[in-house]
Amino acid sequence: MTKTILRALAGETQSVPPIWMMRQAGRYLPEYRATREKAGDFLSLCYNPELAAEVTLQPIRRYGFDAAILFADILLLPQALGADLWFVKGEGPRLSTVTSEQDFIDLKPVRSIDDTLSPVYETVKILSRELPDDVTLIGFAGAPWTVATYMIAGKGTPDQGPAHALKDGNRALFEQLLGKITEGTIEYLSRQIEAGAEVVKIFDSWAGSLKGADFDRYAIEPARIITETLKRRHPGVPVIAFPRQAGEKYVGFHAATGADCVAVDDSVSPEWVASNVQPSGCVQGNLASSHMVTGGQTLVDETRKIVEALRGGPHIFNLGHGITPNADPENVKLMIDTVRSMG
Ligand code: CP3
Repeated sequence: MTKTILRALAGETQSVPPIWMMRQAGRYLPEYRATREKAGDFLSLCYNPELAAEVTLQPIRRYGFDAAILFADILLLPQALGADLWFVKGEGPRLSTVTSEQDFIDLKPVRSIDDTLSPVYETVKILSRELPDDVTLIGFAGAPWTVATYMIAGKGTPDQGPAHALKDGNRALFEQLLGKITEGTIEYLSRQIEAGAEVVKIFDSWAGSLKGADFDRYAIEPARIITETLKRRHPGVPVIAFPRQAGEKYVGFHAATGADCVAVDDSVSPEWVASNVQPSGCVQGNLASSHMVTGGQTLVDETRKIVEALRGGPHIFNLGHGITPNADPENVKLMIDTVRSMG
């Protein structure tokens, strides 16, 4: 096995960690903005296989990352399940909401998601042909809880209040919705793997707002079901789980879900991750994305600290969350050069 990302996911400790970056195809890159302009809006870009493949490849050409992540969005699945979806400039996503039994009944069946999502699988096919041999192709989906927070509120929310309200007010409906998203996610990720994704990542951006038993039921359990089913259908395809802001709940997440790698955000120190999470398997992370804006010696020092702290076990270098549009592309290069100079 030559691909460095796959070696890390198989549990190999490497002298230099492989590296990629969440939102590596994004607005901080002038070539992304140009292609997006050509596509029209963001969703048109997601559903245009040629252009979506093009923006996926841009950061690979510019920086030589070890992995490419499919260009798409976690909210395409709710759209495929029948939610209206649009993006408001400067504000983010908007969706029609699911808050009543009738809203739930009105959703489309899981078996019809491919009617909407087949262009995404076409993007994966193009990429698996066009990517350099040493670059790993990562597919992804949102975790059921995070996707549900958007479907219930109809937008991003600072505290996921509407989703918590439905969970606590009508648990049966909430669990039905979560179950349907879980099934849809399994099918969506299966199709991505069949089209050529070599690894899949489950983004649970709002896992941190689930406390106590809710974390076990709605962050761990869906990730376990998705991972277990995918591994039965597609043996050997590794899964990266990202229960963002899980804090002490990162401990034991590999074992509880069967994920090959747990991605960690920058609210936990790399030393803590080395002692408490990495002994259970590969970890990914966790430089604060703010360094991509500020750069300089602090970026170099913080990057080195992470590599040093995690070099005793399997590690994939990444940010703690997605890169922001105001980042300087030069700082990304500085991060990569710093990591790769540490062999
Ligand atoms: O990482 C990558 O480069 C792959 C593509 C990718 C996107 N979104 C492209 C995107 C991935 C993996 C995502 C995941 C995603 N999408 C998450 C989970 C990860 C996270 O960031 O917490 C979430 C919560 C979403 C939902 C979403 N999509 C929001 C809230 C927004 C608006 C916020 C913003 O940054 O404007 C998006 C839009 C989005 N998704 C953009 C990109 C490149 C910006 C769209 C643009 O070009 O205007």
